[in-house]
Amino acid sequence: MTITAEQLVEQLQSLLGADHARSGGDLTAWEEDWRQLAKGKALAVVSPASTAEVAAVVQACLAAKESGLNVSIVPQGGNTGLVLGGTPDASGLQVVVSLKRMQAVRAFDKQNLSMTVEAGCILQNLQNLAAEQGLLFPLSLAAEGSCVIGGNLATNAGGTQVVRYGNTRDLCLGIEMVNAKGEIWNGLSGLRKNNTGYDLRHLMIGSEGTLGIITAATLKLYPQPAATTCAWLAVDTLDHAVELLALAQQQLASGLTGFEAMEQDALKLVEKHMPHMRMPIDASTGAAFILLEYSDDESEDRARARLEGLLEAAFEAGLLTDGAVAQNLDQAQKMWDIREHITLAQAAEGLHLKHDISVPSSSIPAFVRKAKEELAKVLPDARVINFGHLGDGNLHFNVQAPEGANPREFVDTCQQTAEQAIYDVVASFGGSFSAEHGVGRLKRHDLAHYKDPVALGMMRAIKGALDPLNLFNPHALLPDA
Ligand code: FAD
Ligand code: MLT
Ligand code: ZN
Repeated sequence: MTITAEQLVEQLQSLLGADHARSGGDLTAWEEDWRQLAKGKALAVVSPASTAEVAAVVQACLAAKESGLNVSIVPQGGNTGLVLGGTPDASGLQVVVSLKRMQAVRAFDKQNLSMTVEAGCILQNLQNLAAEQGLLFPLSLAAEGSCVIGGNLATNAGGTQVVRYGNTRDLCLGIEMVNAKGEIWNGLSGLRKNNTGYDLRHLMIGSEGTLGIITAATLKLYPQPAATTCAWLAVDTLDHAVELLALAQQQLASGLTGFEAMEQDALKLVEKHMPHMRMPIDASTGAAFILLEYSDDESEDRARARLEGLLEAAFEAGLLTDGAVAQNLDQAQKMWDIREHITLAQAAEGLHLKHDISVPSSSIPAFVRKAKEELAKVLPDARVINFGHLGDGNLHFNVQAPEGANPREFVDTCQQTAEQAIYDVVASFGGSFSAEHGVGRLKRHDLAHYKDPVALGMMRAIKGALDPLNLFNPHALLPDA
């Protein structure tokens, strides 16, 4: 006999208590994405407190699905994702499983440079925990005060330190998860070497909630650098920015920990919406600006000397038109604050289109020229807000509605046109249409179009084998067959 939606909700409530299995009432915080692009309708929002409770929830949903109810599960962390992967659709048949109550630190191994934490730990809390022990957990992004490590792993988040420490994938040693049968796999391990077959940890990382629910992870830690220093640099072309990157990599090697680029219009938007923020250099004076971060393992004096050495060489080579070096941690933080407020400034300006692309960093100037040219042909008045992690070849080539236009209307009517113009150029440079945000529900059609069909076929085979009933996040990542 088919289990009804009401019966499933009752069962979830008896498993977790009514306070932690909510249905009805105002569930906007879980049903709407961070950008307020879409609002769905969840059958229930459940917040398990342990891995065993996550497994029980999955088993209950699986039994309902097997009985004929078309229910599915959307795992959710901090709900800061930018591609609608963690928010339910409008069917009223999706159970949102929020991991936010699972915040335990299960182990901290200072000598092994690792920590084992539950999926709902807020990223910033993990950074602080490591720092309290004199260590560094380097994953860093503007949403770090609200995103959680389970979400970071599920999206393989990038952020601002990738140039030195890699993506979230590179920071994970082991995983605990609940699979589509409701079984728990304990793959938590501090091992740095383990060649015993397929690496299921890496399959889960970046799977965007489509293969299982990550409940805990063992993460890599690093020694804290002795000193970190920043510079804010003006360039007159992106060609010079890319030459500067090559010079910085050559001179600073692994000490180069951040290399962010922002075109003038991105900073103008910050000036408009956050007038209290002071630009280190007048934003009108450069075509683009670089926030360069250098970390030194020896001393503050050496950090300063090496950064100044780089800047001298860059000025001599004619790569910079102006530059400001942070004189203390407060000034460095202010530089990062400006960079990290661009997303908020874009949100304040109105709904917009995000194009989180990557190409080889050497191709960035040519890509930007071509993409602007192609976009102007189809949407001549649209405003490009271009910034991002240039050190990783990753740009946020975002597009804002023309001045005075209705942003929602612009997004609804122009998304496809803008995507096609920009992603065709991305593809011609051998790039990716999603460098770090993932695919979610928003970019599935792009995956269908741009992903290699052989790769897509293997991805479908994996999904079919691990989640044959399509219980986990069925409308995210993989396009409909
Ligand atoms: P959610 O948004 O809750 O979920 C994201 C996806 O992961 C969904 O598909 C969801 O189903 C799945 N998921 C969540 N938890 C689990 C779990 N435990 N098990 C299985 N699946 C799960 N991203 C970057 O990569 N780099 C950036 O620099 C960056 N900057 C950002 C700046 C701002 C201001 C904002 C708002 C977002 C930014 N993002 C960035 C995007 C976002 O913060 C990241 O994708 C982040 O990793 C999402 O974490 P979350 O906990 O909010 O996950
Ligand atoms: C960032 O790097 O700030 C975000 O990933 C960019 C965005 O919001 O598009
Ligand atoms: Zn980013």
